[in-house]
Formats: sequence, structure tokens, C-alpha cells
Amino acid sequence: MTAACVFLANLPRGRKRAWSRYRPWDLLKSRAIATRLVDGDRVLDVGCGTGHMLAQIALFRAIQPHGVDLAIPGTAFPEIPTSTYDGRTLPFPDGAFDATMFCYVMHHLSPDHAAALFREAVRVTRRRVFLIEDSLPAFGPLYRLRNRLHRIEAGLRYRDFDAGYEIPPDESMFKTHGDWQAWLGAQPGVAQVEVESFAAVAQYDHHTLLDVTLQAAAR
Ligand SMILES: C[S@@+](CC[C@H](N)C(=O)[O-])C[C@H]1O[C@@H](n2cnc3c(N)ncnc32)[C@H](O)[C@@H]1O
Repeated sequence: MTAACVFLANLPRGRKRAWSRYRPWDLLKSRAIATRLVDGDRVLDVGCGTGHMLAQIALFRAIQPHGVDLAIPGTAFPEIPTSTYDGRTLPFPDGAFDATMFCYVMHHLSPDHAAALFREAVRVTRRRVFLIEDSLPAFGPLYRLRNRLHRIEAGLRYRDFDAGYEIPPDESMFKTHGDWQAWLGAQPGVAQVEVESFAAVAQYDHHTLLDVTLQAAAR
């Protein structure tokens, strides 16, 4: 019955609704970031993949988006400007963005690489850095095994990128909520770190937003 109503309601449009390009839980995660932005914000997505997160945030806020990644897989979201870079130095001047985000990227890096890339994000950002990560209040042995398998699988998936994907040496960038707060809080330029779990709205309960306010914004 519901499916019939949706089909009939969309018949006169003759095209798919924009919302149907997205998964509901991705929209809820994007909305959580959008509520922390204001219209007009310049938003950088590091490790943007197709650019789908920026496209979703743009449904809620009139942002000026840009995505970077080692390689851009396809053109599913042509409305989002994207470019490739070397995976280390963000090719933008200081303070070029109001907010920068890393969605499921940091756990693909070694601790040194992650810290250096986070410092780059602080350099190019005026107010907020967002991370979305697979994180929980605590990890049991099975979840640690899952982290290990995920890292290996990501290495197999991304290592053929032109820029060269380095498989991180261990699982140490998979962090619990408390470990993320400690790690991010210790990075230069960070004023405050808030953790919001998407357990209530996401497909799996480990999806977590880490909302970092920069010292530059607090001044
Ligand atoms: C799990 S995918 C997430 C993609 C996208 N952010 C999302 O939420 O769907 C991880 C992404 O991190 C990217 N990545 C890996 N190392 C990176 C680096 N040093 N800088 C930027 N992106 C990187 C990969 O190319 C891949 O697109």
C-alpha cells in the first residue's frame, strides 16, 4: 500500500526525487552536521569519495562545498566540486574554509599521517572540524577483530589509487569515544571536542560524530 502511494505520488514528476539518491541514515548524519553550520559556509570534505556527504548537507544548508580525495570515483554528484590531491598537503590557503570534515577517513591512516592531516585541516579551517568515525564507548574483542578486517579490506580496495594508498600499520586509529576526545583534544589549535553517537538513527550503532571547535573560532 505504502509503495503504491509513493509510486503514484511521484508519477507526475517524471523523474526520481532528489531525496531518493540518499540513504535515510546518511541524510540524518548529514543533517547533524548541517545544523552546526550556517548558510554561506565554505565546507571542505577531505576523503570525499563521490561527494555524497556534501551533496546531502547542501540539501539542508546553502553551503559552498569542495571535496578532495586521492581519486574521485565517478561523477554521481556533478553539483559538488571535487579535486584530487597528494593525501598529505591540503592545496588551500590558511583559513580558506569555515568547516572541514573527514568522514570515515582517519581510521585509514597511520597515527602520524592522521595527526599531520588533522593539522592541515586546522590550518585551512576557521571554525569547526567534523569527524564521522566508526566508534563506540568501549571495544570488545570481536569489535577489535572487525576493525582489523576493515583495515585490511580498505587496503585491498584503495591501494591501486594513482596517488598511492598506504595501508595503515595497525588498528590504532580506530578509537573509542573517550580515546577520540583525548586524541583530538591534544591536537594543536583545538578548543573543544563534543561526541554525538548516531546509534539511534544510523544503520549500525557505531557511527559517531566528533565535533571539534577550533581555538580560532573561540576568539
Ligand atoms: C570509507 S571511504 C569514505 C568516503 C566518504 N568520506 C564517505 O563518507 O562515504 C574512505 C575514503 O578515504 C580516502 N582516503 C584515504 N586516505 C586518504 C588521505 N590521505 N586523504 C584523503 N582521503 C583519503 C579514500 O580514498 C576513500 O575515499
